Amino acid sequence: MSLYAIGDLHLHFQSEVKAADQRRDRLWRNHEDRLRRNCAGLITDDDTLVLVGDHSWGRKLAECEEDFAYIRAIPGRKILLRGNHDHFWDVKKTASLNERFQPELFFLQDNFAAYRDYDFAVRRDDKGGATDNVPAYRDYAIVGTKGFCFEGPFFIDRRGRILGWDEEKEEHAKALVERELTRLRTSFEQAKAAGYSKYIMFLHYPPTSVLEESSGFTDMAEEYGAEQVIYAHCHGEARFRDSLQGLYNGVYYRLVSGDYLRWTPARIL
Ligand SMILES: [Fe+2]
Ligand SMILES: [Fe+2]
Repeated sequence: MSLYAIGDLHLHFQSEVKAADQRRDRLWRNHEDRLRRNCAGLITDDDTLVLVGDHSWGRKLAECEEDFAYIRAIPGRKILLRGNHDHFWDVKKTASLNERFQPELFFLQDNFAAYRDYDFAVRRDDKGGATDNVPAYRDYAIVGTKGFCFEGPFFIDRRGRILGWDEEKEEHAKALVERELTRLRTSFEQAKAAGYSKYIMFLHYPPTSVLEESSGFTDMAEEYGAEQVIYAHCHGEARFRDSLQGLYNGVYYRLVSGDYLRWTPARIL
């Protein structure tokens, strides 16, 4: 029983690919087949897979039906996060998405999902000798929201150094970050009210922009004691190092965009 994650499937069984890189880059060639095969060899029906946003190029639900059929055919329980390209997903209608696709798919927005991590602890006798293995459970809440970060435009010199940026766009980004922080807190607070104290936090956008070493999102991860922050959205070699990876202030950060993972889901727990 494991928790896996991967983002940015950008499926297009009934829609048109809008990103030139996805049409040209060899990493995207037959990516649906590669992911399907990798999942079949890795994930079982006892596992959970979090899909970290940008599921489909379809602009409305009717253009995503075959994409959802593909997602449903992947083994395990699937939890979906909202990405910036998921136009089919109206935030205010998350409950109706959950109603329509339950129990196979769960749409994570202003709510949380329970995840029970399962392990074996060694039982010992009075003299400290191992007698048998007993199951040990750790209950986690999977929390998250789309997130947001300022992506420019930046003004750079010939050596690629940042000289400045579009300040009007930066102001707009700050407002979107605030809205997403409110949504993330809703997710954490619902989980906390339900008795959870262990969290895995998911964002579609990176937790920090290229200008930041910390943000409201990293602060919130630390405030609630999230063990890991998992994010996606970064495509192409040049973007893979845009944000945090590894351990910072006790929180483990991990990028799981599909092209970064070469279409093999990452094992989170
Ligand atoms: Fe994406
Ligand atoms: Fe994205």
